Amino acid sequence: MRHLMSPLDFNVDELDKILDLAADIEANPQKYAHACEGKKIATLFYEPSTRTRLSFEAAMLNLGGSVLGFSSADSSSAAKGESVSDTIRVISCYADIAAIRHPKEGAPLVASLKSGIPVINAGDGGHEHPTQTLTDLMTIRSLKGRLGHLTIGLCGDLKFGRTVHSLINALVRYPDVTFVLISPEELRIPDYVREDVLRKNNQKFKEVTRLEDAIPELDLLYMTRVQKERFFNEEDYVRMKDFYILDKQKMSLAKPDMMVLHPLPRVNEISTEVDDDPRAAYFKQAQYGVYVRMALILTLLEVKVC
Ligand code: NCD
Repeated sequence: MRHLMSPLDFNVDELDKILDLAADIEANPQKYAHACEGKKIATLFYEPSTRTRLSFEAAMLNLGGSVLGFSSADSSSAAKGESVSDTIRVISCYADIAAIRHPKEGAPLVASLKSGIPVINAGDGGHEHPTQTLTDLMTIRSLKGRLGHLTIGLCGDLKFGRTVHSLINALVRYPDVTFVLISPEELRIPDYVREDVLRKNNQKFKEVTRLEDAIPELDLLYMTRVQKERFFNEEDYVRMKDFYILDKQKMSLAKPDMMVLHPLPRVNEISTEVDDDPRAAYFKQAQYGVYVRMALILTLLEVKVC
């Protein structure tokens, strides 16, 4: 039985297979409409979510399966003090696969150790978010045609932004990727990513503060929200929250085919005037999230569709 805690749990070949399957699902959805009949996914969300939880549920429904779960810690026995380990032991009797989001780093991993069913990390604190990475990879591969030979700007809250940590982990395995890490001083990428992932892999990267300076060289700009819920005090958040705002004027400095991604939700960091720019791909990205989650469910449940 396999779980998914980090994008590194799949090797590049396995990732490619999942992305190929997701592309086939996009092209031939009817072929997969009954693939998971009789199966259930449990979505155990101890933190707010719109896209991740609902796209997991849509994914299972599209495969002919069913869904159960909770969308906040308050509405589960966590409010009574139950551990994730006990919860997953019980959920293993009710469902075939589970997606867990939790504010504590490592909670889905702890759950997986006691689980009788595959567990997917749907975001653990400021740590990792591997299914957003699958979504991002599918978006990049579909719209750019490749996952290597790219200069990628990651902009915003690189300290607490778990989607950025997982995306870097995944992309260092493709050839000739250069990262431009754009953040305020206080929100720079954590040391464990800089040292253990970027430096260890001899990755080309630089850290800068000004988006305007970085934007002209980018093939792709990945914007992120300042992660309000991870700040210790409101004042620091208020000081940081509008540090970057991507608008038409900044887009005019970018290459004509520079793609803009964002895991969403957006707050102020991308002005709505950018939404109509053909380079804005963040809503398309959310749509890809359903196909990759369908592919992931099929893979972890070892369901073959001929
Ligand atoms: C992201 C997350 O939860 O980390 N959202 C998502 O899953 N699409 C990004 C965010 O909340 O900023």
